[in-house]
Amino acid sequence: MACLPLWEDRLGRTLKIVDKDDDPLHQPNICLPRVSPAEDPFYGLETFDGPGPWDRSTLEKMITFSGNDYLNLSTHPAVRKAAAKAALAHGMGPRAPFMTCGHTDYHRLLEDTLAEMTKKDACVITPTGFAARTALLSALGNVASLTSAGRRPTREERIGIFADVLNHPTIIDGLRLVEEQREADVFVYRHNDIDHLDELLSGCPAEKKVVYSESLFGINGDFAPILKLVELRKKHGYLFVVDEAHTILTCGRNGGGIGEVYGIQDQIDICIGTLSKATGCRGGFIACSEGWKKLIQARGQPFTFATSTPVPIIAACYEGIMAQGAVWSRVQEFAALTRCSAMSPLVSLLVGSEQEAVNASRHMLECGFHVTAIRPPVVAPNACRLQLTLTSAHTSEDISRLVAALSLWIPALRADDDRMASRLLMAVEQAEGFAQGTTHISSDSFHSLLSERILL
Ligand SMILES: Cc1ncc(COP(=O)(O)O)c(C=O)c1O
Repeated sequence: MACLPLWEDRLGRTLKIVDKDDDPLHQPNICLPRVSPAEDPFYGLETFDGPGPWDRSTLEKMITFSGNDYLNLSTHPAVRKAAAKAALAHGMGPRAPFMTCGHTDYHRLLEDTLAEMTKKDACVITPTGFAARTALLSALGNVASLTSAGRRPTREERIGIFADVLNHPTIIDGLRLVEEQREADVFVYRHNDIDHLDELLSGCPAEKKVVYSESLFGINGDFAPILKLVELRKKHGYLFVVDEAHTILTCGRNGGGIGEVYGIQDQIDICIGTLSKATGCRGGFIACSEGWKKLIQARGQPFTFATSTPVPIIAACYEGIMAQGAVWSRVQEFAALTRCSAMSPLVSLLVGSEQEAVNASRHMLECGFHVTAIRPPVVAPNACRLQLTLTSAHTSEDISRLVAALSLWIPALRADDDRMASRLLMAVEQAEGFAQGTTHISSDSFHSLLSERILL
């Protein structure tokens, strides 16, 4: 008991560093539409009080550009129905990890579907996308420790993992894990810098090398130079891991991601993704060979020791993938029209300091938009940004209003206005493209919008 004040003090000081701002950013209440008593999952429950009245005022006043439900599949009728029917028929099992009590036919069906989409022989479904990254990296680390006959792996035996500096924090955590256990040496290359990567690969003594890159970087909203990475693989013979977290379902005819867009799925050894974004549900997956699947099942701790994903979630994911076709075809039409290889649902606006990013986000909130400020530890303190995420439910009208709000904020920045205006220009082009592609709303005259709102 005596140490509690000390802890309070330490916690208070740590929190001050984590959130310098005493007035934390407002997070919107997610307001669900009202349903009839018969449809309400909580209605008539005897053991709990009913839910409190939803605060609709937030929803009515605010449009969110901060979720990852890119194709709005989380509310698709087929997805809802599949989850509800599976829950009624089967409950929330399986109630143990796969290694303890196995998987159901539903799990296998989803695994086979994802393997087929990404052109791999097998697939492992994990409880979250986070778990997929850490499970894969933990299994990779085991290749070094299990083959070095009980000793610490030597430098040559350790694995060399090469990762882009802008990879997502879940990947960084997995990398720290294998580095900490001295199973791998981690090399971080400059963002999308192929020459830097080539140089690091050439100087690394490890026999087994892995390159890990996101296909579309969540932090920056830009694509990896995937064809150059495929070329470099021919020179260095590395295991190529592509993280399609943001591109599964949003890119490629069958939703197979950037690998499918460029027809290079056979050059990608392991394709990793999440089911928590465009799929509209929850979970992650690792599509790979049968051999890698066996190793991940046995030694990918965050998979091996975690309870399997419940059947209703698996059923909803499967339905989401099936329902994706109709939404995706609209994205495809727009991409063909603009001769874009792929559309990105992410727009990142580099702002500068943490305070400027927080101020910008707050300004957007006052204008009725929830737009997230990306801050440390995700990015460096001077590289904070606003991240806009687009979905198929946003309309051109929403985007026009968003642009108007953003352009009001530009003069408030100390940053060079011209540079900011050109960044915004690119962002709007991307946002407009996505909205047109996914909703078929004809352009609100993109150019007049820009000249009205930004350039003049
Ligand atoms: C590359 C990447 N991996 C993993 C995740 C986390 O996935 P999940 O929410 O399914 O754990 C994200 C989410 O932002 C991501 O961008």
